[in-house]
Amino acid sequence: MIQTCLFPAAGYGTRFLPATKSLPKEMLPILTKPLIHYGVDEAREAGMNNMAFVTGRGKRALEDYFDISYELEHQIAGTSKEYLLTDIRELMEHCSFSFTRQTHMRGLGDAIYSGKGLVGDEAFGVILADDLCVNEDGENVLAQMVKIYEKYRCSIVAVMEVPKETISSYGVIDGKFIEDDLIMVNDMIEKPDPKDAPTNLAIIGRYILTPDIFEIIEHTNPGKNGEVQITDALLKQAKNGMVLAYKFKGRRFDCGSVAGYVEATNFFYEHEYGKK
Ligand code: G1P
Repeated sequence: MIQTCLFPAAGYGTRFLPATKSLPKEMLPILTKPLIHYGVDEAREAGMNNMAFVTGRGKRALEDYFDISYELEHQIAGTSKEYLLTDIRELMEHCSFSFTRQTHMRGLGDAIYSGKGLVGDEAFGVILADDLCVNEDGENVLAQMVKIYEKYRCSIVAVMEVPKETISSYGVIDGKFIEDDLIMVNDMIEKPDPKDAPTNLAIIGRYILTPDIFEIIEHTNPGKNGEVQITDALLKQAKNGMVLAYKFKGRRFDCGSVAGYVEATNFFYEHEYGKK
């Protein structure tokens, strides 16, 4: 029912310089698959087929990745290596990919707003590909959120508990539990000082947004760090209606940091090769 997933992918990835000087951070591989591919797999498993990307300058590798590489295909056709392209070919057959650019780095809220034309007037998923999520015991995180959307029909953010001293790296929520893992949001703050954080429930890079969010973003002033924050727009939406925060089942790797990236690599290596 939710058809489109938006991938804001315009950030510089400064924590991975110099690699990200000419390589989009979303193209960094965990084993042999780029981070963005894991994100697209998650969206597809959650039932979405329209993959919409908000990129920026120096990010063309993302477009090329989701296109046919005739020369390469021709070279490896009929060889023992052909199977290495099976996954991505299959993905390309079943999904559509569209791209737009965020021209100025004005924050996540602005990046999402830049995707308006690709999304249309329907609820959509958002994946920040450098938050890599896995759930070994069942549905992936976005699929879990789609189920909640089907019941409540409002915007939803994924949250997890983090140590209080790290809270200033995240958007933070407060609210009332309405189910075991579901909170009705009544407050949200982007990257607060630990002493101002109302809870230790941090937003991670999975959202389902209803399309009225675009008009709200239009009227949202720059906030933390002078950027238009999706957190601020969502707080308005919560106050005018309802926004839910979902304590997801599974695990999240912060692949925007070197430590999290290495952790994810080790985890996937263990799973893909460890048992062989
Ligand atoms: C963004 C959001 C923040 C959220 C985080 C999750 O921040 O602004 O609310 O907690 O993603 O990864 P960024 O990490 O892009 O600075």
